[in-house]
Amino acid sequence: MATIFIFIFFFFLVPSYGFDSLDPLGNITITWDYFSDNGNSVDVRVSLNNLQLFRHVEEPGWNLGWAWKGDEVIWAMLGAEAKEQGNCTRFRGQQKPHCCQKEPVIIDLMPGTPYNMQTANCCKGGVLTSLKQDHSKGGATFQMNYIKASVSDSGGSFSMPENFTLGVPGYSCGTPFQVPPTKFTKDGHRWQQVLETWNVTCIYSQFLASPTPTCCVSLSAFYNSTIVPCPTCSCNCQGLPGATNCVECSHHMCPISIHWHVKQSYKEHWRVKITITNMNFVKNYSQWNLVAVHPNFRSVTQVFSFNFQTLSVYANFSDIGMFWGLPYYNDRLLTHGENGHVQTEVLLHKDRGEFRFNEGWSFPRKISFNGDECVMPSPDAYPTLPNTAHISTTTLPTIFLSLLLLSICSTSLE
Ligand SMILES: *[C@@H]1O[C@H](CO)[C@@H](O)[C@H](O)[C@H]1NC(C)=O
Ligand SMILES: *[C@@H]1O[C@H](CO)[C@@H](O)[C@H](O)[C@H]1NC(C)=O
Ligand SMILES: *[C@@H]1O[C@H](CO)[C@@H](O)[C@H](O)[C@H]1NC(C)=O
Ligand SMILES: *[C@@H]1O[C@H](CO)[C@@H](O)[C@H](O)[C@H]1NC(C)=O
Ligand SMILES: *[C@@H]1O[C@H](CO)[C@@H](O)[C@H](O)[C@H]1NC(C)=O
Ligand SMILES: *[C@@H]1O[C@H](CO)[C@@H](O)[C@H](O)[C@H]1NC(C)=O
Ligand SMILES: *[C@@H]1O[C@H](CO)[C@@H](O)[C@H](O)[C@H]1NC(C)=O
Repeated sequence: MATIFIFIFFFFLVPSYGFDSLDPLGNITITWDYFSDNGNSVDVRVSLNNLQLFRHVEEPGWNLGWAWKGDEVIWAMLGAEAKEQGNCTRFRGQQKPHCCQKEPVIIDLMPGTPYNMQTANCCKGGVLTSLKQDHSKGGATFQMNYIKASVSDSGGSFSMPENFTLGVPGYSCGTPFQVPPTKFTKDGHRWQQVLETWNVTCIYSQFLASPTPTCCVSLSAFYNSTIVPCPTCSCNCQGLPGATNCVECSHHMCPISIHWHVKQSYKEHWRVKITITNMNFVKNYSQWNLVAVHPNFRSVTQVFSFNFQTLSVYANFSDIGMFWGLPYYNDRLLTHGENGHVQTEVLLHKDRGEFRFNEGWSFPRKISFNGDECVMPSPDAYPTLPNTAHISTTTLPTIFLSLLLLSICSTSLE
């Protein structure tokens, strides 16, 4: 009996403007507010806002760069700092400017920076959380005073810099475009308008971030003793140039592997166990997140040990579920040497007319970790139901041991 998998889903057919069908509009927006013009200098407030549903910016964080069109010089900055001062020798004698580079790179300050160097919403060490995980920490703001270019092309108007970069692998930023000026309030009563506001949209592409995938998926089910491993060479092949020696040497060479185990069947419900393993010896993943696509996510009854939310990316289509860790419990996925795994069990309702164990229905359609899509096994290898479909509810405690053995090989140190 041939098993037929239909992997064409609604969201694959929708044309996407970004690069990610699970968050098609996701972007990081830079907003540049000109809030006062002092003749030869200008005060600007720059904000970064992470408008992505699940992808976050983790340590070491953003490094915002741009190119001035003239010989502008940053005189002072609050809430962030330029990485390098550059050549300021033309300002002899006097107090030196903050940054004289043609292409400055701005870095965030650390939490706990002295109060007189801060602005509201600053100093998070470059980390930006996602909309779903903690929207309140998804932004960063700094202020600066800069000296206008000595030869200003258009009298009076501002000369917006260009060629913005975020300094985070995978992001590319568009051309600045003028938007209706931002309003702001200091006291909650009076609203002031800035002079001009410009936005820059930066979009993530997994291909730009990394030439190879970074995670893979393995599968198993209580009704079949076969463990379908991560596809060989999912992320790289052992011994190939570029195969990192900081990851546990496995047949898949992925820093992250995810195991989806269909664990148990009850009268009205079924249970899945999801384990995320960090194969990396040198990296902790803080604020990690996992996004999976499964039609039964519409009827999740209970999720143990993880946070869970469905993402309504396409109006009523809630097959996309996001998991992330509980603060101070498992929101950090530690290195391979330090118990590097986290796991959850999910209880789902068996919806009439839809739920089934055959045809691979109980397995995920797609999984991403920290916003990067993981390599799935080929559908024709999925564990199948025994032909005499007697479903036992025993679990297989040996599965994880054998999985471990499967994925481990001698570590090459070269
Ligand atoms: C940026 O993301 C937000 C939130 O998803 C979206 O509303 C907005 O349209 C996006 N902007 C662009 C220019 O794509
Ligand atoms: C921005 O980048 C383009 C293409 O690399 C370059 O031609 C242009 O001169 C840059 N702009 C500035 C102000 O450096
Ligand atoms: C700095 O700029 C001045 C001209 O403004 C130049 O004479 C000097 O060589 C530069 N110094 C360095 C280290 O580049
Ligand atoms: C500009 O960016 C801000 C977020 O920083 C956003 O709220 C606003 O809607 C954007 N404006 C336009 C016209 O895209
Ligand atoms: C990972 O986190 C643990 C516990 O917080 C810490 O002891 C360890 O040094 C970290 N390792 C790396 C490589 O950052
Ligand atoms: C969303 O789904 C519910 C229940 O499945 C249905 O009643 C409702 O009409 C749907 N809404 C839209 C906008 O499709
Ligand atoms: C378990 O699934 C595999 C496919 O991955 C299949 O070849 C095998 O026959 C199944 N075992 C049983 C006992 O049904």
